[in-house]
Amino acid sequence: MLSAGQHRCFGFHESEESCHAKLRSQRVSSFAKGGAVHFSPVILDRQNRINTAELQTHLKNIDFGQGPLAPEQITEFIDQMQVYEGAMYEISTKLEILDSEFQVRFSHNPIHHMERRLKSINSIIGKLQRRNLPLTVDAIKDNLFDVAGVRVICNYRDDVYSVANYLSAQNDIQVLRVKDYIKNPKQNGYRSLHVIYAVPVFLSSGPHYTPVEVQLRTIAMDYWASLEHALRYKTDLPDAKLTEHSQTLLDCARSLQNIETQMQNIHRDINSAPQVGEAPQAN
Ligand code: GTP
Ligand code: MG
Repeated sequence: MLSAGQHRCFGFHESEESCHAKLRSQRVSSFAKGGAVHFSPVILDRQNRINTAELQTHLKNIDFGQGPLAPEQITEFIDQMQVYEGAMYEISTKLEILDSEFQVRFSHNPIHHMERRLKSINSIIGKLQRRNLPLTVDAIKDNLFDVAGVRVICNYRDDVYSVANYLSAQNDIQVLRVKDYIKNPKQNGYRSLHVIYAVPVFLSSGPHYTPVEVQLRTIAMDYWASLEHALRYKTDLPDAKLTEHSQTLLDCARSLQNIETQMQNIHRDINSAPQVGEAPQAN
């Protein structure tokens, strides 16, 4: 149930005000040529911007099993989360710019939409604990590369590789790791291109290179991954049903791949955007 003042916006529950802010953020620019109107890709934020007071209260109340955090540790944690947020915004801005360049040059938007999220405190703690790492900011910085995440949903497979390669070629960011699950799908049928970038976030103390995990996939891959993710967290299903659905999903992944290839081929014939068939390499 949605509480008063909330409504469903792009599939997420959030305040009406933040939905309106989002709609406003779908910037519209008008180009003189033919009076055509171009939209920049919709960016869906999975949560509002960092709220320091809220984060402070949350951190004070969390049971770390090692006693409460010292005030300076809380400040250090919040500062680091703000750096992750900055890195996430830098990457999404770069992606928006690439998308509008494609629109202007090739009359094609490679990016359908984007989603951004920062990992929640509880997920960060859970991941550190699963890996037997200490609950410190240094452990987060050295070991977790997906605190800041941007998901880029593209129209076609060619777009996934083009966007990833053009972004990776920018010389102010580094490619730390590439996992190409499109070329090598996971056993369950999961396909996506994962790239971890190190992005300089400029603070008063100078640049802080910060990792951002970018997951690039097509609309079809995203459609599939959403259902597979939902099935994985549906723990009350009998095992036999789970096995049956997992097999069906694997079949669906193959069918979607075929459909995507056929539609990609039609699109190649009617669009002049450059094709880059390979994933970027780590630096
Ligand atoms: P973790 O981040 O701990 O998962 O390990 P990793 O960094 O080695 O994982 P990887 O790069 O393979 O995947 C990271 C993210 O990709 C996950 O958090 C999911 O968002 C997504 N992902 C990976 N595999 C699957 C999958 O089989 N199904 C779905 N739906 N999403 C997946
Ligand atoms: Mg991860």
